[in-house]
Amino acid sequence: MEPTRLLLLLLVLGVSLQGCIAQGGGGAGGLTRGSFPKGFVFGTASSAYQYEGAVKEDGRGKTIWDKFAHTFGKVADLSNADVAVDQYHRFEEDIQLMADMGMDAYRFSIAWSRILPNGTGQVNQAGVDHYNRFIDALLSKGIEPYVTLYHWDLPQALEDRYNGWLDRQIVYDFAEYAETCFEAFGDRVRHWVTLNEPHTVAVQGYDAGLQAPGRCSLLLHLYCRSGDSATEPYVVAHNFILAHAKVSDVYRKKYKAAQNGELGIAFDVMWFEPMTNTTADIEAAKRGQEFQLGWFADPFFFGDYPASMRSRVGDRLPRFTAAEAALVKGALDFVGINHYTTYYTKHNSTDLVGRLLHNTLADTGTISLPFRNGKAIGDRANSIWLYIVPSGMRSLMNYVKERYNSPPIYVTENGMDDGNSPFTSIKDALKDSKRVKYHNDYLTNLAASIKDDACDVRGYFAWSLLDNWEWTAGYSSRFGLYFVDYKDNLKRYPKSSVQWFKNLLASS
Ligand SMILES: *[C@@H]1O[C@H](CO)[C@@H](O)[C@H](O)[C@H]1NC(C)=O
Ligand SMILES: *[C@@H]1O[C@H](CO)[C@@H](O)[C@H](O)[C@H]1NC(C)=O
Ligand SMILES: *[C@@H]1O[C@H](CO)[C@@H](O)[C@H](O)[C@H]1NC(C)=O
Repeated sequence: MEPTRLLLLLLVLGVSLQGCIAQGGGGAGGLTRGSFPKGFVFGTASSAYQYEGAVKEDGRGKTIWDKFAHTFGKVADLSNADVAVDQYHRFEEDIQLMADMGMDAYRFSIAWSRILPNGTGQVNQAGVDHYNRFIDALLSKGIEPYVTLYHWDLPQALEDRYNGWLDRQIVYDFAEYAETCFEAFGDRVRHWVTLNEPHTVAVQGYDAGLQAPGRCSLLLHLYCRSGDSATEPYVVAHNFILAHAKVSDVYRKKYKAAQNGELGIAFDVMWFEPMTNTTADIEAAKRGQEFQLGWFADPFFFGDYPASMRSRVGDRLPRFTAAEAALVKGALDFVGINHYTTYYTKHNSTDLVGRLLHNTLADTGTISLPFRNGKAIGDRANSIWLYIVPSGMRSLMNYVKERYNSPPIYVTENGMDDGNSPFTSIKDALKDSKRVKYHNDYLTNLAASIKDDACDVRGYFAWSLLDNWEWTAGYSSRFGLYFVDYKDNLKRYPKSSVQWFKNLLASS
């Protein structure tokens, strides 16, 4: 394959490679707390495997990401998250950092394998105790926990037992785990994110094979030992949807009356602009969104997948029985949106990509790129996939409002990364004017979507509190508001963006 086609392929598959950092100016503009409705929640976000470390402590079971990260060649800088940023031990210090900024909330995930090391069965009390201390420490500083149940770290025991998310049994085992958490923590947790980015897991884990568990059939199994990119992503997606629905049903029947919480999913959603004004490209941008957000959200609002998926994927797209559809429809209390970037989309890639790939991307009949006529759609962050297009936030909020009849929305992730360069001094790394501008501009668009367009957005979580272990990019990507010194005992230093958030949150 010629390099340009490879690059194209990598881009559309959303691979994150290390790149160079561009510099940007600081953002001003009259954004204040008062730009958002009363009660609007500001927080930062994180996940267990990217933050905790302590992978062998207190009875934690192995996860599919432990295995994947320890497989040679899967992570850009050959690192793993055995230590990560050690939040398992340093959470009190980290919670103080959130309090210093004036944050209202913290979105973090519970590691399933700390609660149930074998995936099911015996509860590990040390794991329960840890998260009890964590939640109490947050509440004692007035910070509300937003708890993700599944942020990609499936217990390896379940992958070994029945191939994890590929088997319908996962729905029942996930419900057992969720119930264990509702019983242990639900008296203090009112916001639950059941699943983080199920679309990314389906596509990167089972189609492109670039993330755990690393299954695919692309290029004649050249780089995945097993998998089927044409079917498995759809099976996994179906089980994710049924798993949320089951948990939601259990919560409403057994816990809601006493605990009064709400359950949502954090969907990963890029915005797609049509590449040109031709009808074909305008339709392609719509179809691209149906294959991304619609795939996972439509069933919760309409009881089935988008019609465009039904017609293009055919028999490979699982069907909901009438009973399942009834359980799924209405099972979402809020829509979580992880939003970072915007691409141009053009129609029908089947001739370009489809001959090469038999997968979800070919099924969309679209191709999405961050360039038009050789010109980038916006400034780029460190990650090769992350282009900065603040207006995408407003467009996306309006799309969710229109398509789903104005559901409550939380922006569960938004942020940008700098590189981890050995040639940059800490002093220079702390001057993150590009990040300040990113948050300012995306938040300005978010505020407009609420004030001017009446979108029901209730909170915003910056990704991320600290620099951390960024999956296949390892430690090469720095998304934090706080800098972490990987060479000196993981010391945390506030970047300029910390002061910026502090000013915003203190304003009226
Ligand atoms: C884990 O679960 C499996 C299946 O239920 C069981 O066979 C096995 O004995 C369990 N292992 C431990 C250590 O509990
Ligand atoms: C598409 O049409 C709109 C409205 O007329 C215009 O603003 C925009 O520049 C056009 N885009 C392209 C790619 O031609
Ligand atoms: C896309 O292009 C392929 C090959 O050129 C063609 O066979 C197919 O009918 C097209 N599909 C759509 C939806 O336009």
